[in-house]
Amino acid sequence: MTIYVDKNLFHLQTRNSSYLFQIMANGELGQLYYGRRIHHKSAYHNLAQREQHDAMASWTLDQPDFQPEMLKQEYASLGKGDFRYPAYQVQAPDGSRISELVYQDYQITQGKQRLPHLPSTFANDPQTAQTLSITLMDAVTHLQVQLNYTIFPKFDVLIRSAAFKNQGIHSLMLKQAASCQLDLPDAHYDWLQFSGAWARECQLQRHHLHCGQQATSSLRGASSHQANPAMILARPDTTENTGEAIGFNLIYSGNFANQIDVDQFQTTRIITGINPEDFTWQLKPQSSFQTPEAVISYTNQGLNNLSQQLGAFYQQHLVNQHFAQQLRPILINNWEATYFDFDETKLLKICRQAQKIGIELFVLDDGWFGQRDDDTTSLGDWFVNQRKFPHGIDHFAQKVHDLGLQFGLWFEPEMISQASRLYQQHPDWVVGAPHRHLTPSRNQFVLDMTRTDVVQYLYEQISAIIEQTHLDYIKWDMNRNLTEIYSTQLPPVQQQEFNHRYILGVYHLYELLTTKFPQVLFESCASGGGRFDLGMMYYAPQAWVSDNTDAITRLKIQYGTSYNYPLAMMGAHISAVPNDQTGRITPLATRAAVAYFGDLGYELDITKLSSPELQTLKKQIQFYKKYRQIFQFGKFYRLLSPFAGDPNLVSWQVVNSQQTVAIVGYYRILNEPNPPYRRLYLQGLDPNRIYQINDLEENFYGDELMHAGLFIPRLLHSTMHVEQTADFNAQLFLLRALS
Ligand code: GLA
Repeated sequence: MTIYVDKNLFHLQTRNSSYLFQIMANGELGQLYYGRRIHHKSAYHNLAQREQHDAMASWTLDQPDFQPEMLKQEYASLGKGDFRYPAYQVQAPDGSRISELVYQDYQITQGKQRLPHLPSTFANDPQTAQTLSITLMDAVTHLQVQLNYTIFPKFDVLIRSAAFKNQGIHSLMLKQAASCQLDLPDAHYDWLQFSGAWARECQLQRHHLHCGQQATSSLRGASSHQANPAMILARPDTTENTGEAIGFNLIYSGNFANQIDVDQFQTTRIITGINPEDFTWQLKPQSSFQTPEAVISYTNQGLNNLSQQLGAFYQQHLVNQHFAQQLRPILINNWEATYFDFDETKLLKICRQAQKIGIELFVLDDGWFGQRDDDTTSLGDWFVNQRKFPHGIDHFAQKVHDLGLQFGLWFEPEMISQASRLYQQHPDWVVGAPHRHLTPSRNQFVLDMTRTDVVQYLYEQISAIIEQTHLDYIKWDMNRNLTEIYSTQLPPVQQQEFNHRYILGVYHLYELLTTKFPQVLFESCASGGGRFDLGMMYYAPQAWVSDNTDAITRLKIQYGTSYNYPLAMMGAHISAVPNDQTGRITPLATRAAVAYFGDLGYELDITKLSSPELQTLKKQIQFYKKYRQIFQFGKFYRLLSPFAGDPNLVSWQVVNSQQTVAIVGYYRILNEPNPPYRRLYLQGLDPNRIYQINDLEENFYGDELMHAGLFIPRLLHSTMHVEQTADFNAQLFLLRALS
């Protein structure tokens, strides 16, 4: 039994964590504890204790010590004496925004069902999860709220969501509906957030919490490059390998808000979910609203452990199970090789070369459809560009398949160009407010994904291409954010439902396609990492981390991404130099040593390489294939951070589950004269095994490498094996257990 219920008390226990809440005297729920696992008792008076403070509202005249603002709440309401920010807001027909969610009953079920219409976690084996549903009711409006908690004990993961149902006879307006609220008893935490920009995603920032509000959020209609929905609270002394941390994330790809509120008593309230800004939802009598799921995970063993348990959890309980353990193909993508300038002959040359060196999948990127020769036309016209493929896309696909390569195509389903056949036929399908100017971005506009006819059109068009080409893979791109949001299909009172309905439309299209074509591997992309989130991961096990393919700046991007997402999700490509985003010239070996740690791909014109370079690529591919299982699914450890300490040195490591093979990437950005003495401390090895490293003569015990470290010599010209420069140097250490 992992969920205990004792009268008013609920205790959810996983392998290492306990989550406790209770029904308070006013019938509402109060949070008691979340943290390292504790013994179960039938009551925790000490944790529920409160002191009466002056100048505070109290629940009733005869209970002056029952002061809502002093209490840790489970799902706080607005305007009843708890002046902190609420988890939900609802407006009654008389305009009032007061509600009291009083406990009704609970239910425990074994396992975890998927949510309808939303990406969600699941437990194919019901023994791996347990779900507690608590029903609450407001007596005046008859608003019913079900708080759902699922624990996955093996991973120390808790999934939360809320379902609202109007049991009354009048419509209600839902103005906020958080997925999760967590009140913690102190504010002694660092907040790790993953902010960024296009080509500079997931830049870790670590700050100590301060009084008042701090938040990351998006109002772009997508989770965004600027603020990833993942965040971590860690104790200030928590390191990669020790200490407490709580990870938060949302299984959602639209506007979100992660708010942290440190109050006057130094307690912390966390609220995550759909961004309440520009959101309302009309709850008609008997209708329901389901929030996205929030993921919460606890560790007392440092940030590496947190990332590992989350990564393993997603593989088993979130990702399309068809791909969960499946090795990801090594691909070549023609985008940086050709941009829009290609035809069948040119591409087939690349494919032939690719096949010779062991690449497995050819991805035809933007520009294969309509009249598209640059980014000004044809989005929405998902039929072949006759000039580039005079014999049809099916003919080209056949040629690619005949070479023994898999075939993948780029789509940007949600978008439309004004210069397109689709726009001529359906100008009304474009998102835009009446009488308002339409704001272009990358010369394109957005289709109204809240419309079922739009989703149906896209489903039919994309299905036809998949069938014609026997497609193996789709790169689903999304290259702009939403503006002038409005749908002609929605009545005025429901216009603020648009953002959420938009993303539900996207999910619906994904659901239709992945159900009809379960074997097609989807890679999500939004100008790189503009929608790199768990909502997308549910449908697309792989995602393009960033449009930035420069190995050096990618170090930070991949390092930052690794806190919350597993390597098997991260598309990482080797591209040409000078790099198209930074102009930087890095050695080919360094580009490979960065791209290996993820789903390896190539994105350069390999027909222009010299034969020694091609031989190098061939060797890279052989090497990656040999260790692909570890690079994609091994345990990942961050060793030296580009965000802390010496930013000139970065290191990370993967280890297989038997601890017999490990691979360390060590990156020295600029070479230094007369550098300090350096040892690298490895992680995750078996202390009692003896390991051989590359061709070093000496062998090492695991404990020696972890506790005493590996001496890393300085780089001298005479010992270098790089082409042009001692800068941007990468070393790979391959460890093999001898015993
Ligand atoms: C986006 C993607 C790129 C590429 C281009 C094509 O920028 O992130 O990888 O597919 O679109 O237009």
